[in-house]
Amino acid sequence: MIQTENLMKVYQMGDSEVRALNGASFTIDKGEMVAIMGPSGSGKSTLMSIIGCLDAPTSGKYMLDGVSVENMDEAKLAETRGRKIGFVFQQFNLLARTSALENVMLPLTYAGVSGKERNDRAMKALDRVGLSQRTHHAPNELSGGQQQRVAIARALVNEPAILLADEPTGALDSKTSVEIMDLFQSLHKDSGQTVILVTHDSYVARHTDRIIKISDGKIVSDEANRNPLKAGAPRMEE
Ligand SMILES: Nc1ncnc2c1ncn2[C@@H]1O[C@H](COP(=O)(O)OP(=O)(O)OP(=O)(O)O)[C@@H](O)[C@H]1O
Ligand SMILES: [Mg+2]
Repeated sequence: MIQTENLMKVYQMGDSEVRALNGASFTIDKGEMVAIMGPSGSGKSTLMSIIGCLDAPTSGKYMLDGVSVENMDEAKLAETRGRKIGFVFQQFNLLARTSALENVMLPLTYAGVSGKERNDRAMKALDRVGLSQRTHHAPNELSGGQQQRVAIARALVNEPAILLADEPTGALDSKTSVEIMDLFQSLHKDSGQTVILVTHDSYVARHTDRIIKISDGKIVSDEANRNPLKAGAPRMEE
């Protein structure tokens, strides 16, 4: 479903250029659960924005479900993203002083879904992440793990085929991180969603089925993880 060939992303900074992506090629099939790892500045977030149709590559090819993305204009990127992609971020990015339910309803409001259906779908998404008892809490009345669950519910509410998460456990303690990985695993298993997440933490990465490593904008390793950790497995020496 995701096929890229020689993706380049070059940022012009005054006289010098930064090659955030320098020829990345890979394929991710529908329903895979993949971790992307790499040092700070290696191009992980840049890659996620391109996969997520937030940004276009400078050159190279990107086919999403057989459709070329690399030459789409802003409007077409936005439309594709709205239909196919859900995003989760390290800092949750929830609206303050706004209830969990309203935060989750927001993408539906943008999509023009109204009234009871919007409410029902948001409640269902909150239920899937185990938060049906906290729907009227604002973000500052929730723990970090609960806030990330709200953000995941918001990413799920449009039923995207692809869930992208950039350091989803980066702001969480290790116990809560494992709970969030357990949630990603069950979403992936139950709904067949493609899950792609960026992490610095190899223990977190080992909860996925495949680990892609990136360095200086290039893919330097891409390996199947045949025995993914189940949530709750002890953290071993790394
Ligand atoms: N908008 C931008 N303008 C200029 N340079 C940028 C821009 N965005 C990213 N870069 C540069 O591109 C490179 C890759 O950045 P990116 O954010 O993708 O790294 P990353 O792997 O996500 O790092 P981290 O682990 O710290 O989040 C970096 O050198 C960064 O400084
Ligand atoms: Mg990043």
